[in-house]
Amino acid sequence: MSVRLGGNILVTGSNRGIGLELVKQLLDNTGQEDHIYACCREPEGAGAEVRLSTPPQVTIVQLDTSDEDSVTAAVQVVGERVTASGLNLLINNAAINKPASPALLSATSKADMMEVFETNVAGPFLLAKFHLLFCFCGQMSCRRSAIINMSTLVSSIEKCPQNFHIVQMYPYRTSKAALNMLTRCLAEDFRKHSILVTGVHPGWVITDMGGKEAPMTPQQSVLGMLSMMSSLSDKDSGKLVDWMGNQIPW
Ligand SMILES: NC(=O)c1ccc[n+]([C@@H]2O[C@H](COP(=O)([O-])OP(=O)(O)OC[C@H]3O[C@@H](n4cnc5c(N)ncnc54)[C@H](OP(=O)(O)O)[C@@H]3O)[C@@H](O)[C@H]2O)c1
Repeated sequence: MSVRLGGNILVTGSNRGIGLELVKQLLDNTGQEDHIYACCREPEGAGAEVRLSTPPQVTIVQLDTSDEDSVTAAVQVVGERVTASGLNLLINNAAINKPASPALLSATSKADMMEVFETNVAGPFLLAKFHLLFCFCGQMSCRRSAIINMSTLVSSIEKCPQNFHIVQMYPYRTSKAALNMLTRCLAEDFRKHSILVTGVHPGWVITDMGGKEAPMTPQQSVLGMLSMMSSLSDKDSGKLVDWMGNQIPW
């Protein structure tokens, strides 16, 4: 399946890991008329590889998804740039996992819980709210009008008995389950605006978060996800799917 994405695309957490690979592959698969807003918490930081070679189709935007002022400022920058053509695709990719795995109950504080929820749930919530202001409304697809919320297999309540013994990760699991509900609510709410909202599990991927033992590279995961995202339509809105398009139960 080929990648058919384009227009104005915003990716959060694009300085490393899956977010960086999303920007790289989107660049390879989009044209001169398309534009990618590569959002990073610290564009000048040591890890911000995305800034090293910035072609004209990419604008780097400072965005800390846990900071409402930062979200507002980023939205203003992007809103002024996209003007009438609107934002086509928002990829809520940035996330944290605290404390370090396996994040047992005894090792987890309230502060961990709040910090993870601010980044993994409140950030995507705010960006979705703003997406409505600047989106291109017209046709439910990732090429025209969509929000992709990066979720995970371990968010699945039904699958919890199968994987809880491997990693507990209370804040991460519960935040991503909340993100799934956000996906479901937005899908209902935004249907009238023809905005597709889908949760995606990228697979277990070699990144700082996924670790070195993961079976898949970011390249493989993103190749699958972009191809899968190209084929999403209204019937996929409000669902959780993996990088190959297989549906995951809530
Ligand atoms: N890797 C896996 O196996 C796996 C599996 C399932 C789901 N996922 C999901 O896939 C997405 C990407 O994960 P990854 O593996 O690429 O993780 P990663 O390597 O840890 O990268 C996380 C990215 O999120 C950014 N970020 C964190 N907090 C932020 C904030 N407050 N504001 C803005 N950016 C922030 C980080 O930026 P900084 O450099 O500034 O920290 C970094 O760019 C996440 O949503 C994750 O939950 C990953």
